[in-house]
Amino acid sequence: MKKITIAIDGFSSTGKSTIAKQLAKKLHYIYVDSGAMYRAVTLYFMQHDLISKHKFNKNKLIIALEKIELKFKFNEKLGYGEIYLNNVNVESKIRSLEVSNLVSKVAEVSEIRKKMVTQQQAMGINKGIVMDGRDIGTVVFPKAELKLFITASADVRAKRRFDELTKKGDKVSFDSILKNVKERDFIDTTRKDSPLIKAGDAIEIDNSKLGLEEQFQKIYKIALKIINKD
Ligand code: CDP
Repeated sequence: MKKITIAIDGFSSTGKSTIAKQLAKKLHYIYVDSGAMYRAVTLYFMQHDLISKHKFNKNKLIIALEKIELKFKFNEKLGYGEIYLNNVNVESKIRSLEVSNLVSKVAEVSEIRKKMVTQQQAMGINKGIVMDGRDIGTVVFPKAELKLFITASADVRAKRRFDELTKKGDKVSFDSILKNVKERDFIDTTRKDSPLIKAGDAIEIDNSKLGLEEQFQKIYKIALKIINKD
């Protein structure tokens, strides 16, 4: 069967990674969470006291970037690759609200984006990949055969993220999550370098009212149609 590239973009907490993982599993494709890479870089800066709410020196971050090595290692049990920062699994740590509150500022820096995009393109060289993020269909894989743009209302998204974090035992308030979701949407859509926009040839899906299975079936059908087209 022909292998394609699937690019999934959209606002924060739209469930892009859920769809991407489902598709990758069903099609036996690689799944790459590009947001995890920006989150891991942010975590490194936090751990080395290079950024905080009141501290942000772009030049220092760019210099520190050289010391960061990111890798995805496949976890058999989970069925997808987990992210490693300098050989340490940081999959859980990068999902905290503290990282979420700083990541979009980090992702605005062009030098950082350049390094991430180069790695992401290398991972997709043989196709058979599902990648989710903000600029996948526009910048990373502009020639992807299937591009999806996922949206949902801010309240629905904040509720999903709130449930996810509280289930993990994180003590967070719904309001702080909603604020973060809205702030990131603003930074991500208005930044100069690779803003979050729907690619002209992307299919838009609002999943505010779609169930997981219903959504998957809908997208899987579209993917198969493209794969089977010669
Ligand atoms: O999980 P969620 O949808 O909330 O976000 P994420 O995919 O983990 O991405 C975290 C942040 O990284 C985003 O809010 C963007 O600022 C940035 N990002 C980006 O700029 N480009 C990407 N391809 C992926 C993420």
